[in-house]
Amino acid sequence: MDRLKVLLTQQQIAKRVAELGAQISRDFEGESVVLIGVLKGATIFLADLARQLKLDATFDFIAVSSYGNSREQSGEVKLMKDVDQSMDGRNIILVEDILDTGLTLTYLKNLLLGHKPKSLKIAALLDKVSRRTQPIHGDYVGFEIPDEFVVGYGLDYAERFRNLPDVCILETDEETS
Ligand code: IMP
Ligand code: MG
Repeated sequence: MDRLKVLLTQQQIAKRVAELGAQISRDFEGESVVLIGVLKGATIFLADLARQLKLDATFDFIAVSSYGNSREQSGEVKLMKDVDQSMDGRNIILVEDILDTGLTLTYLKNLLLGHKPKSLKIAALLDKVSRRTQPIHGDYVGFEIPDEFVVGYGLDYAERFRNLPDVCILETDEETS
């Protein structure tokens, strides 16, 4: 049996996302931005964050190979879907659910810098700082969290739990029995 323990409530998340939206709106006042969501985990965060921006904003999406059904990062990142538009001269905000080892965002950042954007910032709802193996940081981070496996608000375990409104710690049998 999977056990879920609430780590961040939907009210806490909504408040923090509004703060991040206000900060991004100030930083890019008078400019347009393109939000690039990393499929599929970032979709819910992107949808909420976008509605807090008082800016001219467009969306794009990118997909990389991820954990699959396992909880460990393979160490290899593979591009599954590239962006649809040219990012030349654009203000990119790369939107991700969680910064863990940093492998995914390091790979995506380098890939997108090749498009010669005007600027590139990283927005991550969650940050597991203690897990980082790459020298990368989020510019707009929702919450720093401990090294626990979390699901909900877009984050999955084997594709499940993305629709939970709260971010929850997932305790599986392997750990609890
Ligand atoms: P990184 O490349 O190690 O930074 O991993 C980032 C990706 O790993 C995220 O986009 C998530 O898909 C996944 N991930 C890392 N930690 C968790 C977690 O606690 N729950 C669900 N997915 C996670
Ligand atoms: Mg992901």
